[in-house]
Amino acid sequence: MVSAHSGLRWLLLLFLLIALFQTFGRRGKFGDIKETKSVLIAFILTHIQLLLGLILFFLSPKVQFGGSTMSSSLFRFFTVEHSLIMIIAIVLITLGYTRSKKAPKPFNVAFNFYIIALVLILVGIPWPFREALGAGWF
Ligand code: HEM
Repeated sequence: MVSAHSGLRWLLLLFLLIALFQTFGRRGKFGDIKETKSVLIAFILTHIQLLLGLILFFLSPKVQFGGSTMSSSLFRFFTVEHSLIMIIAIVLITLGYTRSKKAPKPFNVAFNFYIIALVLILVGIPWPFREALGAGWF
């Protein structure tokens, strides 16, 4: 489960980048968001990631509720920071996708929401150089 959640980050980052490039290329234009399939694929991948994340939240030994939660950087990160940052990012992706379906200039809407979500996701990932978090590249 952890490997699936960890590996899927790369696919998600790839499709978020493709979606950003494609929507940036069409900014200001009228159209239908379905013309940029990557926007939908990134939306789907973030929701799979949410599902895996929620399951891990209940199974992971790195999620702890107790006196030590906030004093341990590992427990605090996975119990509070990672989960909260990623949920906010996923809400932004959802808003970006759903609002872009109704907007006259859908690519601008999707781009604006997706770029903020990407920054949050990059901040929220437990990169291996944050050694205290004990997570890998894959
Ligand atoms: C865009 C969404 C997300 C991305 C890219 C992401 C990415 C990651 C990565 C890379 C890891 C480290 C895995 C490793 O040890 O190699 C991780 C761990 C974890 N994530 Fe997420 N995550 C996301 C959303 C969520 C959400 C929404 C939750 C919970 C509500 C969550 C809960 C967890 C938990 C509990 C772990 C620790 C698993 C363990 O090692 O025991 N994640 N996540």
